[in-house]
Amino acid sequence: MKEDLSKTIEGSFHIVGGDFIRAGEASTALKKQLIDLGIEEETIRKVSIATFEAEMNIIIYATAGIIRYTITPEEITIIAEDMGPGIEDIELAMQEGYSTAPDWVREMGWGAGMGLPNMKKNSDIFRIESVVGEGTTVEMVIRRKKDDHSRNSREA
Ligand SMILES: Nc1ncnc2c1ncn2[C@@H]1O[C@H](COP(=O)(O)OP(=O)(O)OP(=O)(O)O)[C@@H](O)[C@H]1O
Ligand SMILES: [Mg+2]
Repeated sequence: MKEDLSKTIEGSFHIVGGDFIRAGEASTALKKQLIDLGIEEETIRKVSIATFEAEMNIIIYATAGIIRYTITPEEITIIAEDMGPGIEDIELAMQEGYSTAPDWVREMGWGAGMGLPNMKKNSDIFRIESVVGEGTTVEMVIRRKKDDHSRNSREA
């Protein structure tokens, strides 16, 4: 049975820095929940990409973090907040291809410098705040497409 989509649904995931074994668990769990709720495919795609990149950045760069999400009929909000080194130059970090990932992280396939640009690209609202030596917070809002009934028409 599908949950009542007129209600606000909230949840959170704790992310541990360096925990590559569990990389992608949070974004995968959120994606599953969105599928179960019957959310439009296009929205799920955007949320999944944005959440996965945020999750990876916490794992790669931070000590620990939390990803909170809120699902409403209008939009999905993802807030990724971490305790970590912070980002000195946000404008530079937002540029495609900019990365400080060390070689051993690059060998695992990360460090293309595309995570933050992709988070922004897939969000309708994107905010990033960072304090060097304290941590980084990324807030992303993805608006849901009201006119896409491809998945919800069955529920009418
Ligand atoms: N949560 C964070 N804490 C500290 N620094 C970060 C954080 N997120 C991003 N950065 C910094 O910003 C840079 C760019 O991040 P971005 O996610 O765009 O690329 P990347 O992680 O280097 O590579 P990719 O995401 O393509 O694997 C990072 O290399 C890092 O220096
Ligand atoms: Mg990244």
